[in-house]
Amino acid sequence: MQSAADRREALKAVYEQARRCEKCPQLAATRTTVVFGSGNADADLMFVGEAPGANEDKQGLPFVGQAGKLLERLLGEIGLDRKEVWISNVLKCRPPGNRDPHPNEIEACQDYLWRQIELIEPRVLSTLGNFSTKLLRADPTGITRLHGQAEVRVIGPRAVRLYPLYHPAAALYTPSMLETLRADFARIPDLLAQPAPDQPEPVPEVAPQPEPMPVPELAPKPETEREQLGLF
Ligand code: URA
Repeated sequence: MQSAADRREALKAVYEQARRCEKCPQLAATRTTVVFGSGNADADLMFVGEAPGANEDKQGLPFVGQAGKLLERLLGEIGLDRKEVWISNVLKCRPPGNRDPHPNEIEACQDYLWRQIELIEPRVLSTLGNFSTKLLRADPTGITRLHGQAEVRVIGPRAVRLYPLYHPAAALYTPSMLETLRADFARIPDLLAQPAPDQPEPVPEVAPQPEPMPVPELAPKPETEREQLGLF
C-alpha cells in the first residue's frame, strides 16, 4: 500500500512522461499543451471524458470550455467542486479540428489513463460519453444503453464503481439529455457513500526462477520422426 503522498509523486512522474509524449506524431505536432488531467490526486470520484478541445489545449486543463462549465454546474448541484474530483480524458492531446480520436491514438494513450486510475485510486469512476465508456468497459455497448447504471469493474489492478454518464457537450444543446444527465448526477452522492468495492488480490511477485538444469544431448531420432517434428 502506497501513501497518498507517494501516489501523488508517482502521478507527477507520469505527468512528466506524458508532457513530452510523441507517440502520436500528428497530435504531438499540432497540440499546444498536453492536457494530463486536473483536480485532487487522491479523489474518490474521477471523470474521464474524450479529448481536449481548443480551450483545453490552450490552457492545459481539461473541461474548461462550455462543456466544462456545465460539468462544474452539475458538480455544484451535488455539493462538489472540481478541485475535489479528478478530471481527465481518454486522449491527453487535442485531435486537430476536434475530430474523433483514432483507435491507434486511444491505444497509444491508454497507459497514461491506467496509471492515473492506479495511482489516484478512485472509488467511483464516471465515464463521460461513448469513447471513455467503451474503452473502460472494453466493450462496444454505447452510452445510451448504459448511462446511469453503476457496475463494479476491475480496471487494471483496481476494482471501481464504474458509472457511465452522457457527455456534457452532448447535453449542452439537448434539454432532455441535460435532464437525464442531471438525474444521473444526482445518484453520485449515494455511490460515493457505498463501501469501496473489494479489491482483487494483488498479483504475486514472480519468484526468481532456479537455474535451468543442463539438458542432456539427445540421441539422433530416426529419419521419419525427425521430419514429423520439423513440421512444428
Ligand atoms: N470534452 C472532453 O471530452 N474533454 C475536455 O477536456 C473538454 C471537452
